[in-house]
Amino acid sequence: MAEIVIVPSPAAAGVLVADEIVKLISERPDAVLGLATGSTPLPVYEALRPRVAGLDVSHVRGFALDEYVGIDPNHPESYRSVITKEVVEPLGLNPDLIQTPNGDLATISHAGEDYERAIAAAGGIDLQILGIGTSGHIGFNEPGSSFASRTRVKTLIEQTREDNARFFDSIDDVPMHCITQGLGTILEAKHLFLLAFGEGKAAAVAGAVEGPVTSSLPGSAIQLHPHVTVVVDEAAASQL
Ligand code: GLP
Repeated sequence: MAEIVIVPSPAAAGVLVADEIVKLISERPDAVLGLATGSTPLPVYEALRPRVAGLDVSHVRGFALDEYVGIDPNHPESYRSVITKEVVEPLGLNPDLIQTPNGDLATISHAGEDYERAIAAAGGIDLQILGIGTSGHIGFNEPGSSFASRTRVKTLIEQTREDNARFFDSIDDVPMHCITQGLGTILEAKHLFLLAFGEGKAAAVAGAVEGPVTSSLPGSAIQLHPHVTVVVDEAAASQL
């Protein structure tokens, strides 16, 4: 059973997770972080800024969960750009040690395997930050994803493209495909932190934490993991 922490605000969740990350880096300067995009993890990255001042973060390694396929890495909404802007630059991390899956079409046929190899070579992910989509997806593992899946290309479902259209000029600009760590990949991280805020996430959170373990709700895979902390506000916890 996951540990569930109900916090008064996203900012409080950010502080809680940031403190864990600081503790980890203090003990292990070359810790491997699993980074998430979307709006949910932003309070974590914000809370980390003042907390890493004075800490040597030059050896910290990181792997993003996912990336759009066929997007220019310099596009402002590529996850490479988002991670650079929200995490690498403000925290002063070494950009060479922070990876995102490679969504370049020219190398896409082996990009999943390459990413898996890189994670394995780093010794695995110590602490994985996760958001959850309204469809119950984690990373970009949409409903139907196998619990054994590894990093691979997936097609985004319409609901996710609609949810993410707010980051683009229009829904037509949201890519159709993504490359995402698989559920099997995510389950190998040593400690998972699943964060969710707001009423809109309540059903997905309840399904992930208490519902049947089913690939129809990919977030329910967390129930198979021995060390999960779910950090939610009252609204996201309202169906628990
Ligand atoms: C996005 C990301 C996920 C994220 C989820 C929720 O599409 N690929 O990693 O957890 O959807 O996004 P948000 O945090 O913006 O609600």
